[in-house]
Amino acid sequence: MIPLLDLRAQFETIKEDVVAAILQVAESQRFIMGEPVAKLEGAVAAYVGTPFAVACASGTDALLLSLKTLELEPRDEVITTAFTFFATAGAIHNAGGKPVFVDIDPATFNIDPAHVEAAVTPRTKAVVPVHLFGQMAAIEKLRPLCEEHGLALIEDAAQAIGARRKIGGEWCMAGRLGTTGAFSFFPSKNLGGWGDGGIITTRDAQLAERLARLRTHGGAKQYHHEEVGTNSRLDTLQAAVLLAKLPRLDDWNAARRRHAEVYAEGLADVPGVRTPQTDGANEHVYNQYTVRAERRDELRSYLSDRGIGSAVYYPRALHLQPCFEHLGYNRGSLPETERACDEVLSLPVYPELTREQQETVITAIQEFGA
Ligand SMILES: Cc1ncc(COP(=O)(O)O)c(C=O)c1O
Repeated sequence: MIPLLDLRAQFETIKEDVVAAILQVAESQRFIMGEPVAKLEGAVAAYVGTPFAVACASGTDALLLSLKTLELEPRDEVITTAFTFFATAGAIHNAGGKPVFVDIDPATFNIDPAHVEAAVTPRTKAVVPVHLFGQMAAIEKLRPLCEEHGLALIEDAAQAIGARRKIGGEWCMAGRLGTTGAFSFFPSKNLGGWGDGGIITTRDAQLAERLARLRTHGGAKQYHHEEVGTNSRLDTLQAAVLLAKLPRLDDWNAARRRHAEVYAEGLADVPGVRTPQTDGANEHVYNQYTVRAERRDELRSYLSDRGIGSAVYYPRALHLQPCFEHLGYNRGSLPETERACDEVLSLPVYPELTREQQETVITAIQEFGA
């Protein structure tokens, strides 16, 4: 049995450190906004390269709180991709805006800046690119476009902690160049908590202050509320778990990249299967290793019959979800997005995957293709 993700394999390697960190929180009995929360904020800000980071309850809230600061009105538009997890567009809707979906670059699965530019209208307020599967979108094209039109740029970096892109000869981390970067600590992410969690990075001191207020009911002081926020604090326990795991993140990401190289070689000549492409400027962190397969559903059940886990991220694009029917998209509106939904299959790429397990996956796919 080779699962898509084996968190228990990781648990064996981190047990001592994480359990010790949890015990410390238990001893402090400071479960809300204990010391590890501020420590994690400092550590993630330093890691991403922003002066500020504000921890919150989930990646969804990291997006929602970022979008709330824009004070969107009902017909205000936010341009995003439809080939993503639901939260990206759900947060736009819940912040009071209207998602405007544009098509992806089929090479990287990421939002295509040319389509973004074409979709800007006087009602556009923000662009939300998603660094899908752990590979950064073309942020150096989106940023000037946003600056030119006075738009916020909110990076959905939920799947991309540690991903970098070379911009003007310099490596730039996901979450550094946007107005904000929204990260998720959902357990399956490259840096996963033992429950829900998220964080927002920003270079803007005032924005950081406002986000910190919004996550605690909009009040900087207790019982004094400048604006209406919500309860979206990160639990001290989760912060402690994440702080204990953070020093290992780069090694885990490197292991994912090594697995990707092995797959690229092993699957190169399998008919009907195409391995993922990395944009030359990117260092990918492979939250998912996602191939395209002509007979995707057959391949998936073939693997499943052999005890090999895989998953389809994402089977139905967001512009075709029933809840967004009123936006007026149809099948055919976003052809590359829809093709990706029909073809993609994610394979096991977690850091602890052994070479032997990976060979089993490769051999099974080769046999399927033969
Ligand atoms: C692209 C993307 N955006 C947002 C989210 C939301 O994160 P969370 O599950 O922590 O709310 C996720 C993860 O699930 C995601 O993959």
